[in-house]
Amino acid sequence: MYLQRRNRILRRSAAIRSLVAETILRPSDFIAPLFIDEGENLATEIASMPGYYRRSLDLTEKEVKELWSMGIRSVLLFIKCKDEWKDNTGKEAWNPDGLMQRSIKAIKDAVPEMVVMTDVALDPYSSFGHDGIVKDGEIVNDETVEALVKMSISHARSGADFVAPSDMMDGRIGAIRSGLEENGFTQTGIMSYSAKYASCFYGPFRDALDSAPGFGDKKTYQMDYANRTEAVRETLMDVEEGADIVMVKPAMAYLDIIREIKNTVDVPVSAYQVSGEYAMIKAAAKMGWLDENKAVIESLTSIKRAGADLIATYFAKDAVRLLG
Ligand code: PBG
Repeated sequence: MYLQRRNRILRRSAAIRSLVAETILRPSDFIAPLFIDEGENLATEIASMPGYYRRSLDLTEKEVKELWSMGIRSVLLFIKCKDEWKDNTGKEAWNPDGLMQRSIKAIKDAVPEMVVMTDVALDPYSSFGHDGIVKDGEIVNDETVEALVKMSISHARSGADFVAPSDMMDGRIGAIRSGLEENGFTQTGIMSYSAKYASCFYGPFRDALDSAPGFGDKKTYQMDYANRTEAVRETLMDVEEGADIVMVKPAMAYLDIIREIKNTVDVPVSAYQVSGEYAMIKAAAKMGWLDENKAVIESLTSIKRAGADLIATYFAKDAVRLLG
């Protein structure tokens, strides 16, 4: 055979492959999600997320120091709220001495340069386990947005670098941006969960925070996974309203959406490899059906290749070790 082009030439050795690799993961691509609980010296493994822990604040500080020393530059905080502090207003979410507020301060004290991002949504604080305020069985938009603004300002006041609204209410990015401006928080960023789908892949996360919805589902606010153009519309609106970074969530089943968004907006795009994606890889590896390390790097590389500039992932530490 005489061939003008032989594509295998560029795949011939590891050295050649490394010369032409288009997508390279680096530690600063990753955002490490952290689950924080009250108490001291506590690390509880999450049953549906083997190898991942919910930690008390003292142990979280240690963890953040370790993450920083490994080259990870950002953490995304989630807290577990005690049942007796949950109600339908979600007011514990803006308690100046709340666990989230104390955690932001402690982490910024421990590692001042670490970029601290905070989840903004009412579900961990809601007696109904919904991301918003419930009235007559419905999740009301505008009152919820007012609560989210209070929550965001409170996080900014505690020292958060970015607030990350994950609730999918309408108009929240613009309202949060105005609230931050009015209160002088001109350096606080917004990483918006812009295209967040109503997904079964959040199941293990809801175990971690005991935040599963008490009735119904989240389909009246999170997006229908059948839709693509809606993701574009949501994301463009968030950018217009003042989002600094946008997000697609989940990641692996939504690589087409990540690419679509990357081609559409001129702000950084993040993607969230969610709890169920972590659980799937862990479970298959435990059964001996997948090579965990290879699955971790392949999945993260494909998310970056799809267009994610940043990736929130429970595999952040594993990935850095494997890349090392
Ligand atoms: C809270 C929130 C959720 C996740 C991130 N922020 C749960 C949900 O929307 O039900 C999911 C993260 C994961 O599954 O890893 N609104």
